[in-house]
Amino acid sequence: MAPLPEITPRPDLFDDAERWSVDELRATQLSRLRDCVRRAYDGVGHYRRRLDGLGVHPEDVRSLDDIRLLPLTTKADLRANYPFGMFAVPREQCVRVHASSGTTGRPTVVGYTAGDIDTWANLVARSLRGAGVRPGDLVHVAYGYGLFTGGLGAHYGAERLGCTVVPMSGGQTEKQIQLIQDFGPRAIMVTPSYFLSLVDHLVERGIDPADTSLEIGVFGAEPWTEAMRAEIESTTGIHATDIFGLSEMMGPGVAQECVETKDGLTLWEDHFYPEIIDPITEEAVPDGQEGELVLTALTREAMPVLRYRTRDLTRLLPGTARPGMRRLAKITGRSDDLMIVRGVNVFPTQIEELVLALPGLAPHFQCVLTRPGRMDQLTINVEGTPGLAGDDRERLAAELAHRVKATIGTTAQVVVLAEGGVERSVGKARRIVDQREG
Ligand code: DLL
Repeated sequence: MAPLPEITPRPDLFDDAERWSVDELRATQLSRLRDCVRRAYDGVGHYRRRLDGLGVHPEDVRSLDDIRLLPLTTKADLRANYPFGMFAVPREQCVRVHASSGTTGRPTVVGYTAGDIDTWANLVARSLRGAGVRPGDLVHVAYGYGLFTGGLGAHYGAERLGCTVVPMSGGQTEKQIQLIQDFGPRAIMVTPSYFLSLVDHLVERGIDPADTSLEIGVFGAEPWTEAMRAEIESTTGIHATDIFGLSEMMGPGVAQECVETKDGLTLWEDHFYPEIIDPITEEAVPDGQEGELVLTALTREAMPVLRYRTRDLTRLLPGTARPGMRRLAKITGRSDDLMIVRGVNVFPTQIEELVLALPGLAPHFQCVLTRPGRMDQLTINVEGTPGLAGDDRERLAAELAHRVKATIGTTAQVVVLAEGGVERSVGKARRIVDQREG
């Protein structure tokens, strides 16, 4: 295993907010929260109706704890106000819209003023700096460009930092490999699952993935585990850092893991106010305890979203690399991705850890849910490493099934497939295929 490249921290490049004390941060958050509630109340019919219904007036927000007086916002609220009903400014003042994929029903639409795009570029630039990227670096962007926020969000941020951007987008895997070989990027921004596909293609071409120019990966848009970090870092010799974000807040760059600590994602709290709630009771849970992340976009002009229920499960931890700002623990998964198999809760990230712990299995897997009788059945389709013999496949299938039972507590059927047997995505991996009726 090649040693990871050394990266010199550059605190001299920090934004002011990265140096703030907790007190300075809280004071700014409160004044921004008050402005944000005012903008939402004055500009968005949905919020005016909700706040009036609760008997809450923007002036009632006097402390950060008063955020609990405000209504939660859900994806359903955004859909109900499709397409532009959540905008607090006339549509003409928006310079861009993005939209979620909306696999079911209407997509959710997000609008940005020129000021919002500027803030976003600054936050992605800050994130990239936290990841160890520096002005002048060549950055290969393989997040999809388009309605998805990944590509353009990454792009503007890397430009803002002063990098040279290669706007490759997702797909055209052969071309990706060629450009990485020819241009020599120092950093890549891509989903971790698509990065693994790129690595496979390098290997197929006889290139050692540790021999590229890449030193830093900025991986996000889907959950990934510490086991995956270890796998990526040991096979490619690059620093694997985590970037988090969601279109409803902005896009990528809401939180970023700092390369010097790699201990969870520093949440850019000067722009996003976090809470963790119990997803069932909607009550706040204390820092350190797992629950659903709820975020308020403190500075968004076009779309001030209050207390958005992200569905992402995580914990809030004290700041380390940026002591004034809290961290998010690596996301366990989305509550929508929770599989309840014969009464046992299972997340794809738990399966990922077990798959990666077994030599002979490749990090490509999919969980298929069926209901053959009255009970749900979980089948894990996972690829073996290239050239794995048939006997070994059966042995590994039995071993993984055993470990799933022993550590997670549920029965799963495991099928170890040949290389390429599991569907690949050029963006977010589809980890769950639900084939149950109804
Ligand atoms: O995925 C924005 C993004 C693009 C983030 C590129 C990072 C990199 P959406 O398509 O709206 O936006 O999906 C947001 O993706 O609520 C999480 O469930 C998941 N997600 C995003 N980043 C991470 C991450 C973009 N680092 C949803 N870890 C979020 C785990 C993530 N899940």
